Amino acid sequence: MFDLLKKLTQTTGVSGNEEEIRNVIKEEIKGKVDQITVDTLGNLIAVKKGNGKKIMVAAHMDEIGVMATFIDDNGFVRFSSIGGVNQYNSIGQKVRFNNGTIGALHYEQKLDDLKNLKLSKMYIDIGVDSKEEALKLVGIGDVACFVGDCVKQGNIIISKALDDRSGCAVVIDAINNMPKTENEIYYVFTVQEELGLRGAKTAAYQIKPDLAIAVDVTLTGDTPNSHLMEVKCGKGPAIKIKDRSIICHPKVKKLLENSAKKINIPYQYEVLEAGGSDPGAIHISAGGVPSGAISIPCRYVHSPVETACLTDIENAVKLLIESLCSFSG
Ligand code: CO
Ligand code: ZN
Repeated sequence: MFDLLKKLTQTTGVSGNEEEIRNVIKEEIKGKVDQITVDTLGNLIAVKKGNGKKIMVAAHMDEIGVMATFIDDNGFVRFSSIGGVNQYNSIGQKVRFNNGTIGALHYEQKLDDLKNLKLSKMYIDIGVDSKEEALKLVGIGDVACFVGDCVKQGNIIISKALDDRSGCAVVIDAINNMPKTENEIYYVFTVQEELGLRGAKTAAYQIKPDLAIAVDVTLTGDTPNSHLMEVKCGKGPAIKIKDRSIICHPKVKKLLENSAKKINIPYQYEVLEAGGSDPGAIHISAGGVPSGAISIPCRYVHSPVETACLTDIENAVKLLIESLCSFSG
């Protein structure tokens, strides 16, 4: 699992530019499903055919990043955020453009109070001294992801883009280990989740599933002075109750609970007060879809040091497999 996480997290795929990560995922699941297609928006849809219920599984393959908006005469690149980029998490980080160009992300020195830091006061330094030189490396509209290597230490994984490549890894591992089932399963690696659940919406509309389960990360309440939240790293995958985009369907919640009990894995409940996720778009698409999610507890979401527990990720795979096999309506 760690090798897969490493491969997926270290591949680039900023929202709207998911080609590279899509190709990597396609390679991982080739030959393991009956059909693989890419839809108009870029969602990767892998189908395992069957005569039973139609289930949509969703994990978003895009990640947050930045987009070059303006280059000054000295070659410093100004940028706009793609998805929820936090200015404080960005200080002193490296970003990598799709052509491999690395930039140092820093802020204007004049700032008298760090509280006033805005992304508009920050820039990317790619080590050139003119606009002309800069444009050879970075074009306006080019995107870059944050750099953050993937390491394993005991049971924890630290990396950029665990949101949501850890979810992609769970779905890939489930595909590779699925026992026989009559259910028809649509494994969807969605695009542009970080920009407002865009890919999931059009994917669900095409598929019109009987049920949908997303796999994504969620915040935790287990770090010094963190907000009050019941989810903790290492206490098992979380069954989503709600976030800002959805109140999960009781049918899905029950299915996940029963499945977790049946296979005897630890689980917890997620009530997320900030942020939305793919099921938020899926459940109000195609005339309404009972939707829910398996959430991987993750610290420091949307930073280059996202931190999650390997055992939670592995148990999420087991929970997904059991749920997909046992759903009967
Ligand atoms: Co996210
Ligand atoms: Zn996510």
